[in-house]
Amino acid sequence: MSTKLQGLRGMNDLLPDEAERWEAFEAIVRDWLKSYGYRPIRTPIVEATSLFCRGVGEHTDIVEKEMYSFEDRLNGEQITLRPEGTASCVRSVIEHNLLFQQPQRLYYSGPMFRHERPQKGRYRQFHQVGVEALGFAGPDIDAEHIVMCRRLWDDLGLEDVELQLNSLGDAEERARHRSELIAYLQRHEADLDEDGKRRLLTNPLRVLDTKNPALQGIVEGAPQLIAYLGEESLKHFETVQALLREAAVPYRINPRLVRGLDYYNRTVFEWTTSRLGAQATFCGGGRYDPLIAQLGGRPAPACGFAMGMERVMLLWLEGQDTDVPLVSPDVYVVHQGDAALGFAFRAAEQLRSAGFSVVFHCGGGSFKSQMKKADGSRATYAVIVGDDEAAAGVVALKPLREVGEQISVTPERLTELLADRLYGVQPA
Ligand code: HAM
Repeated sequence: MSTKLQGLRGMNDLLPDEAERWEAFEAIVRDWLKSYGYRPIRTPIVEATSLFCRGVGEHTDIVEKEMYSFEDRLNGEQITLRPEGTASCVRSVIEHNLLFQQPQRLYYSGPMFRHERPQKGRYRQFHQVGVEALGFAGPDIDAEHIVMCRRLWDDLGLEDVELQLNSLGDAEERARHRSELIAYLQRHEADLDEDGKRRLLTNPLRVLDTKNPALQGIVEGAPQLIAYLGEESLKHFETVQALLREAAVPYRINPRLVRGLDYYNRTVFEWTTSRLGAQATFCGGGRYDPLIAQLGGRPAPACGFAMGMERVMLLWLEGQDTDVPLVSPDVYVVHQGDAALGFAFRAAEQLRSAGFSVVFHCGGGSFKSQMKKADGSRATYAVIVGDDEAAAGVVALKPLREVGEQISVTPERLTELLADRLYGVQPA
């Protein structure tokens, strides 16, 4: 016998029970996105490696250590499985000129890939729902994003969530802060770890993002970007906060919040929880005004965020008293005999045309074993057809979830009866 193959580490199968929970979650998320006027966009899972190098930033963990990059064997092109969705979304918007005279509110969802060490809530293939608003400059849209997150967490009943907020200012403000930060870090260079030393000059802001507890003292004493913000950036940040207060969304300003991707300016935010252990951040985003021009488009402001679906699902399911109900068919069709097969097959199609969900028994077997399958399918009713029923042009209807008589009806009457019993619809 050949050896059994396994999926890749950090890349999970979603088996039917779990996949149904995902679909229930996705349906809630889609309604929520529609209620704010966001429209879907779908981009490929693989892109040119240079998109993420330029978009996410050469000196980020993602680009330095975590990307799944390959050479396309057929044409030698360097390609990468997308580690995030913003760069792809912006590439597509530029390529198809979607910002011509109109801003865009967009969303996407799907798998992303990062070569990280897998643990609870952290995977190598994970899923994001991402939201991007392109062509909007004002603080109102930043606040809209945060408020819409809060609504989703409320709709899902998430508990113990905290909003952390910061402003990264604009390029000039960051440049002034950067030179002082470099000077400060150079004074502490001997105590920095390897990543810190390497990034001191290339990406000093990211040194503040370190997870190394030994560096916390240095991080705490470092000059804070927020102290370097000019009038415009401060006003933007204050208006975002005023709108959050207006919407009664509590927040905590975290001056050390810098995010792990390089495209941000001004508002950045993260939603965290104490319930997911080390993987505390389940959603993050902010404004990224420089990115569109950086990827070759006409300069336009933008902002957005993405949530990790696995993390939000963990929080959601944990907070529910009862599990998400599994999908169950209305009817399971049981049949035996040659004449019954064709009759039952047609009856099943008629029921589906009338809008019912119907599982047709395939694979033969005794009535008894088929009834067992009907029960296991969680269907509400069994429709039973033998050759006698087929000859008489009727089917037997038997309730599976409550005690009740089995009755004999024509296929037409069956549709009316089920509409009434399952959905309370009386015939016209
Ligand atoms: P990000 O913070 O890198 O931002 O990722 C967003 C969310 O994806 C994280 O908060 C986390 O919940 C989830 N996530 C990230 N890595 C993993 C992983 N290895 N396993 C499970 N979940 C993970 C972005 O990706 C930006 N594109 C967000 C954005 C959109 N900013 C503006 N627009």
